[in-house]
Amino acid sequence: MPHRPTRRDVLAAGASLALASQADGFPSILIRRGQKPIVIASANGNTFKNGGPRTCVEEAFQRMTSGQDVLESLIAGVNIVELDPKETSVGFGGVPNAEGVVQLDSCCMHGPKHWAGGVGALEGVRTPSSVAYKVASETDHHLLVGKGAQDFARDMGFTIEPDLNTESSRRIWLEWKRRADPDHYLNPANRGGGDPALLSMIKDGILDPIHAWGTINCDGINEKGEICGVTTTSGLAFKIPGRVGDSPILGAGLYVDGSIGAVGSTGRGEANLYGCLSFLIVEELRRGAHPKDAGLAAMRRMKQNTVEKRLLDEKGIPNFGMQYYILDAQGRHAAISTSRGQFAVCDESGPHFEDCVFAWG
Ligand code: GLY
Repeated sequence: MPHRPTRRDVLAAGASLALASQADGFPSILIRRGQKPIVIASANGNTFKNGGPRTCVEEAFQRMTSGQDVLESLIAGVNIVELDPKETSVGFGGVPNAEGVVQLDSCCMHGPKHWAGGVGALEGVRTPSSVAYKVASETDHHLLVGKGAQDFARDMGFTIEPDLNTESSRRIWLEWKRRADPDHYLNPANRGGGDPALLSMIKDGILDPIHAWGTINCDGINEKGEICGVTTTSGLAFKIPGRVGDSPILGAGLYVDGSIGAVGSTGRGEANLYGCLSFLIVEELRRGAHPKDAGLAAMRRMKQNTVEKRLLDEKGIPNFGMQYYILDAQGRHAAISTSRGQFAVCDESGPHFEDCVFAWG
């Protein structure tokens, strides 16, 4: 059903608005002018600079407010994180899969243009978000995976490298291999454990817990109210080769509705996929929920869907990390997290961190 803004919606937006009419006479698209531009991202969006002058959110904000397309600006921002070898959860130097191969997932979505593109299990390209953008802009498809995605990237002029590991990601993988493999697959008899090697490496301070499922999501809105989003990741550390997480899947790792908002996630992809929770959040926004309340609704759904004992702590709370980054068409924003963390924001006051809303508070 088309979104039909009421007079109240229009006044609440507090901006100069133009309503594009549909044939039935009802306005279906809300075009905002004079919107305060803003970019939000996971915390790594204001941490890594890849040796350059700006973080992801700064770069995206600067480009977007200089008139560059919002999605292109966001991708230029996340490229910084993808290329930074110190960020071991995204792009080049991301922690590899169980065979030591870095496989990357990404997706992007353009609100005003109503198109999207994704890549899954892509090997050999440092910036999967840029390949996802090419899938969106150069093809009629949404999702390319594996060798097909790599062949496509080559055809589009991307350099294909034999190995995207860095010294750091390889060292982490070698340590995992040394501790691990028999427990990597669950015992069907009791489905116990999970990955004790990975958990013990987190406990011993070898692997940052954020980087176990680390990802970057980045969303922005410009002064014309155009909203876009991008998510990019090396996925779950030590995953079974070929595993694709939530990041490249529309409605899970990312969802954008140009007249409603943009939502992306980081964290345990499987838990997000089971509920298509970015889509759920956008639908909550559509019903008028504040980003914070929309995100909390998704966390409640995720908790309801999490019933296996191995995934719960002693209080029955999911024992893994999950975060949602939410930006609505009025520029209101929030991040909801299963831990007490922060997220990145850049607006006219410059780049900064804001506190995530704690999901179980
Ligand atoms: N959210 C990233 C992943 O699960 O792959």
